[in-house]
Amino acid sequence: MRKRPVTQIFNPEEIVERILIKDILYKCTAGETVTVCGWVRTRRESKGFAFIVLNDGSSQETLQLVVPGDAPAFGELHRCNTGAAIRAKGILKESPGKGQKFEVEVSEIGVFGDSDPEKYPLQKKGHTLEFLREIGHLRPRTNTYGAVFRLRNILASAVHDFFQSRGFAWVHTPIITASDCEGAGELFSVTSLDLENPPKKEEGSVDFTQDYFGKRAYLTVSGQLEAEFFAMSLGKVYTFGPTFRAEDSNTSRHLSEFWMIEPEMAFADLMDDMRLAEEFFHYLCVAVLEKGESELSFLQNQYKRISLEDLKRLSETSFVHISYSDAIKELENEKKSFEFPVQWGLDLQSEHERYLTDKVFNGPVIVTDYPKDIKAFYMRLNPDEKTVAAMDVLVPKIGEIIGGSQREERLDILEMRMRQTGVPLDNLQWYLDLRRFGSAPHAGFGLGFERMVQYITGMPNIRDVIPCPRAPQTIGF
Ligand code: 4AD
Ligand code: MG
Repeated sequence: MRKRPVTQIFNPEEIVERILIKDILYKCTAGETVTVCGWVRTRRESKGFAFIVLNDGSSQETLQLVVPGDAPAFGELHRCNTGAAIRAKGILKESPGKGQKFEVEVSEIGVFGDSDPEKYPLQKKGHTLEFLREIGHLRPRTNTYGAVFRLRNILASAVHDFFQSRGFAWVHTPIITASDCEGAGELFSVTSLDLENPPKKEEGSVDFTQDYFGKRAYLTVSGQLEAEFFAMSLGKVYTFGPTFRAEDSNTSRHLSEFWMIEPEMAFADLMDDMRLAEEFFHYLCVAVLEKGESELSFLQNQYKRISLEDLKRLSETSFVHISYSDAIKELENEKKSFEFPVQWGLDLQSEHERYLTDKVFNGPVIVTDYPKDIKAFYMRLNPDEKTVAAMDVLVPKIGEIIGGSQREERLDILEMRMRQTGVPLDNLQWYLDLRRFGSAPHAGFGLGFERMVQYITGMPNIRDVIPCPRAPQTIGF
């Protein structure tokens, strides 16, 4: 067995009661003895003292550890390099240093895991976000990603608080599915067939009856269709889970795997849907302002892409409503400056969305009543028979953050829309059943969770707000 150095006071394997650095500030008083654990940010020595800056991930805060030269722990210091995981015990003192209330005068120190300072990828000098993306397993230890992922957690928790407090039930819709909710064909296949040598039908196509599920299966693009049958039974529900899109979009706002929140309400129309979306959006803004102020302040100072003031204003500002047809009229005034054409019937490109949010309205906008031909089969046909009861919430810099609609509850019209858009009816008989037995008006929407986190944090790329980003040609960890 390896001998422990004599100066190592702690047995690192021993479990001890530790206090989180974020709690020290308001739970402790000077003179108390505390034990903290964390990762060393920096270490320096001066005038017979050593100073270690420690972060434990519980907040943006770091804690300064002061080790007097005559402390028995001093001998361990050579191992307390940047990146090392350590534990320290000592007395809490009022700190003479600026920006920190307390420091710890250390009497005992122990190292859980060493870190070679020459090789540790996180050096004190600032790294680019691109570089940090390559070391996704270490980037949460930086101030930036610590802030982003703590804010992500605050938002995730607020999602549940919002819906639970309003009587919505969380339903766990499947990840593997047999249907294409959006009808856009952007599906990843799930198969256990031998791809080198799949079973074939006589006419030469792959025989999926011999596949694992006996038919074609995919990763879900949305939990909406399944959420609908729970709305038509439990009344008010929401999903919160991962969704997958095999779209070939290599942009700063697209992921192949992203999380979506999809509320669905029975006995509700498009107006109810829009009201819920706005209330939800405001609630999330208030939650981060209340619980993530130090993270937001850090990001505001570091990158100057967000401001707490703007967020506060946003949390109180009503969304502007504009119909697709009126939006097209607005865009036609600026036609010349766009790369993509503006014409009734064509989808809005992100340059158009940004023009509306950033230039015309300077804030979030809900665009409603899109042409039926550019929207999914399940959206309710309007009396004009040209448009559907759809709504997209657009926000500055990002564009579309929420997509939703009132659903088509009339069986004959839904069947017609499915035929027109080439959605196979036989595969979705269960969906049609909801219109055969006790159909009712209902509506819902999907909020892209990463787009929301990106919006709140101001991170320039959506890949910086999800732990392990998946995108075309990109999969690590
Ligand atoms: O507009 P989408 O495709 O709508 C649906 O999936 C509906 N079934 C939702 C519903 O009504 N229940 O997607 C909803 C939101 C978008 O507004 C966007 O925020 C996000 O999901 N989103 C993406 N986020 C990241 N990467 C992608 N590739 C995304 N595609 C959509
Ligand atoms: Mg959409």
